Amino acid sequence: MQDMTTQDWRELDALHHLAPFTDYRELRAAGTRVITHAQGHYIHDSDGNKILDAMAGLWCVNVGYGRHELVEAATAQMTKLPYYNNFFKTSNQPIIALSKRLVDLTPDGLNNVFYANSGSEANDTIIRMVRHFWALAGKPEKKTIIARTYGYHGSTIMSASMGGMKAMHAQAAQATDFTHINPPYGFLYQGNLDEAAFATQAASWLEDKIAEIGADHVAAFIAEPIQGAGGVIIPPAGYLKQVEAICRKHDVLFIVDEVITGFGRTGHWFASHGMDLSPDMMTLAKGLTSGYVPMSAVMVGDRVAARLIADGGEFYHGFTYSGHPVAAAVALANLDLIERDGLVEKIRNDTGPYLASVLAPLAAHPLVGEVRSFGLLGAIELVKDKAGPVLFDPVGQVGVICRDHAIKSGLMVRAVRDAMIMSPPLTFERDDIDLMIARVSTALDQTFEDLQTR
Ligand SMILES: Cc1ncc(COP(=O)(O)O)c(C=O)c1O
Repeated sequence: MQDMTTQDWRELDALHHLAPFTDYRELRAAGTRVITHAQGHYIHDSDGNKILDAMAGLWCVNVGYGRHELVEAATAQMTKLPYYNNFFKTSNQPIIALSKRLVDLTPDGLNNVFYANSGSEANDTIIRMVRHFWALAGKPEKKTIIARTYGYHGSTIMSASMGGMKAMHAQAAQATDFTHINPPYGFLYQGNLDEAAFATQAASWLEDKIAEIGADHVAAFIAEPIQGAGGVIIPPAGYLKQVEAICRKHDVLFIVDEVITGFGRTGHWFASHGMDLSPDMMTLAKGLTSGYVPMSAVMVGDRVAARLIADGGEFYHGFTYSGHPVAAAVALANLDLIERDGLVEKIRNDTGPYLASVLAPLAAHPLVGEVRSFGLLGAIELVKDKAGPVLFDPVGQVGVICRDHAIKSGLMVRAVRDAMIMSPPLTFERDDIDLMIARVSTALDQTFEDLQTR
């Protein structure tokens, strides 16, 4: 293996590897990028490129790469107890300690934790728990879960059905009893409304949907506080607070998916804190372990947990690796780092506002229809014409051109439709942000030039 060239690796990859969310014919023709190692805020590939990772892997490597504290925590735990299940009336010390820590960190009332390995599994767990809860409450007809278009909740059949990605539904992920409302996507839907009026209007879409289905049939509403994979859609202030009140009024469970927004990314431990929300359940993954090992969790509020514990009998659900001791040890070390380095406060008081300030001038670029950010999440919407704005037709091609220019210049960003998305490690300093913005600006200029000559 040591003698293999990059080309050898590419060919072998193309022969056997079916990567996630990939057009196989296209990738096999172009050849994959083989990532060999990473350190700090940079990933390195087998061609010798060093790329600034403005996506923190996939919204997850929040403390950056090469943190020996996490490696040591995993090594120590693997040596002591690499695995034991939690099925046989058994538990382990790291998972007991982590549960207490998560209960203390998350909003009041979320006093119970169920573990899984991915955000998708955690959301599948939520779907099952919610329906079980209503059945136990004598209301089995309360089954429908309302979510939002462009919401992303995972890729299992149930979590993809709950999510609002039409292309995923089209590929055999359309389970029943899910429905979607429009997201609070100001760039597309706000028109001339001011922020407060738009918040009320977008929240009213939920109330309209509940009225259409009948509250007796609605089990829950789920939302990402900021829709990440859908394009960093930042709601108008007060929207989710109004949505929560609508859920309470109609006795609909209110669920917040903090897989991306959790663990400091928004400048609060959880976006729910910053938005003053008290969800019944919460999904966690990604930043829980900074992606060093897989782990996800469902925070379960007292109302749901009390019913499950008192009347639920055996909950026929779980995974071999639910509550994995090594993942828990890494999560604990990760939380220690976030606390020790003051990352949450740093984003709230320094790097978050700084990102907003350096993004703002890009709004003047001829290709840019809007820039927006919240904590260390950012988006730049590319448009054909700023007046309107008029989107490109078809949507999605120009974003890819711009993303490819960025990657060539040494910056890993993501394109969602025609928006450039940024979600860097929470450890980014101001000079990392400056470099990210400089490379994105160059990519915008190069894309603009390409479009002139097309
Ligand atoms: C908000 C949200 N929920 C759930 C998921 C699914 O997580 P996973 O890919 O770990 O299954 C994601 C993944 O990006 C996500 O962003």
